[in-house]
Amino acid sequence: MSAIHPSILSADFANLAAELARIPSADAVHVDVMDNHFVPNLTLGLPVVRAIRSATELPLDIHLMIDDADRWAPGYAEAGCESVTFHAEAATQPVELARNLRSHGSKAAMAVKPGTSLEPHLSVLAELDMLLIMTVEPGFGGQSFMESTLPKIAAARRAADDLGGHVAVQVDGGISRDTIQRAAEAGADTFVAGSAVFGSSDPDEAVSSLREMVRTQKNR
Ligand code: DX5
Ligand code: ZN
Repeated sequence: MSAIHPSILSADFANLAAELARIPSADAVHVDVMDNHFVPNLTLGLPVVRAIRSATELPLDIHLMIDDADRWAPGYAEAGCESVTFHAEAATQPVELARNLRSHGSKAAMAVKPGTSLEPHLSVLAELDMLLIMTVEPGFGGQSFMESTLPKIAAARRAADDLGGHVAVQVDGGISRDTIQRAAEAGADTFVAGSAVFGSSDPDEAVSSLREMVRTQKNR
């Protein structure tokens, strides 16, 4: 099963509730939390996530681009977010953190930046519900998909399959009608799309169209 997660980073932050209402067929809402330390950009934090939580029934997929994930990530699970992703580069005790997130009823996910190799982090995989392979340098929407990440997506798929397939493989960055099929072919099953969805005049149609491209790719 594939899933499309629109990123609200490309939505109108002054009208978030209205923006969320434009993507009823999304599988989840991807929320990018940035602290201006882990990445050179600052977005929003827990108070705004709580407000988003009460403004939509859609599941929330929180992507934490913040330092000291061990300390801050559990609060998002406690706030009722369905999935919380921390960066491998920002967590000191990823196994304990993943267990903590799950103990609050959230899914636990770990992300790796384009320059981070997967191999040293694979031992955490059994504790995770999802692995996020960043397909751009984290920090900003609207960047180009990095083709160089395709082998890493394939390696993530193989590692997930080896564990029995319960771990989802997510991609984030530059996902559009031009790139989604290549990412799917490499093995991704969960697709974040910011500008390709909210840059469209009909965001929900953009979600359906991306989903359809993955479905037809799988049937090829
Ligand atoms: C980038 C964020 C992404 C961003 C993707 O650091 O993690 O979620 O919103 O935006 P697009 O889809 O425009 O590349
Ligand atoms: Zn993201």
